Amino acid sequence: MLSINNIEVIYNDVILVLKGLSLEVREGQIVALLGSNGAGKTTTLKSISGLLKPENGAVTDGTIEFMGQRIDRRDAADIVRMGIFQVMEGRRVFEHLTVEENLRAGSYIRRDRGVKDDIEKVYAYFPRLRERRHQKSGYMSGGEQQMLAIGRALMARPTMMLLDEPSLGLAPLLVQEIFGIIQRINRDEGVTILLVEQNARLALSVADYGYLMENGRVVMADETAKLRDNADVREFYLGLGAGDTAKSYRSIKSYKRRKRWLS
Ligand SMILES: Nc1ncnc2c1ncn2[C@@H]1O[C@H](COP(=O)(O)OP(=O)(O)OP(=O)(O)O)[C@@H](O)[C@H]1O
Ligand SMILES: [Mg+2]
Repeated sequence: MLSINNIEVIYNDVILVLKGLSLEVREGQIVALLGSNGAGKTTTLKSISGLLKPENGAVTDGTIEFMGQRIDRRDAADIVRMGIFQVMEGRRVFEHLTVEENLRAGSYIRRDRGVKDDIEKVYAYFPRLRERRHQKSGYMSGGEQQMLAIGRALMARPTMMLLDEPSLGLAPLLVQEIFGIIQRINRDEGVTILLVEQNARLALSVADYGYLMENGRVVMADETAKLRDNADVREFYLGLGAGDTAKSYRSIKSYKRRKRWLS
């Protein structure tokens, strides 16, 4: 459904951030993209959704295809119309608008009459939003704003959602709740999901397939069941392995070998 082929991304004409990144998302899947701070996860999502341009970034090599069409040269509005919706890191809601106004804003690209039903559907997924429907969203808690950001994405009836760290800064119970809803959205609405997460344990528990990236490249890719059993993943991402976790990731031989295969 989505395929990223060997892309290179440069900011400000000089800062090379993605260095030949490839990944694939099949229809109906939840795919997790994991990696440490600064690895290039958000940049990857922005290169899909066309949001690099406002930051003076560009895909300078390689291609991105969505449902058979090349999208790496299209602008963000076009890509939304094609069915891809990115939920940005840090729950960007329109703070001065109420919850319901935010949801209506999410349906701006649509002309059909289903908007009311869809607002009801969002409230069914997130009952807390219904309770606060007339409240200004800027005064809601971080978790509620994250729910609203996802709800607003649903209003665009996307075929694919790009989620950037939905667990960021949320209490564990709320994280569980939101991830449960993400799974239901995938299963019941048939929305394909590309999920960026620092919380590897959680991401690997909901995703079908996972990519690990370091320094602008994919260093490991596999079905999540296999990644969960991988010794290096267990040690460095799940904190389960034996030994000193402060040790550099690069110092592990087996990891280096694998990295060479993939690069
Ligand atoms: N607009 C920009 N201009 C210049 N450099 C940028 C820009 N955005 C990101 N970068 C650089 O690109 C690299 C990757 O950033 P990115 O935000 O994609 O990482 P990330 O994997 O999402 O990290 P995090 O987990 O901290 O969110 C970083 O070194 C960052 O400094
Ligand atoms: Mg990021």
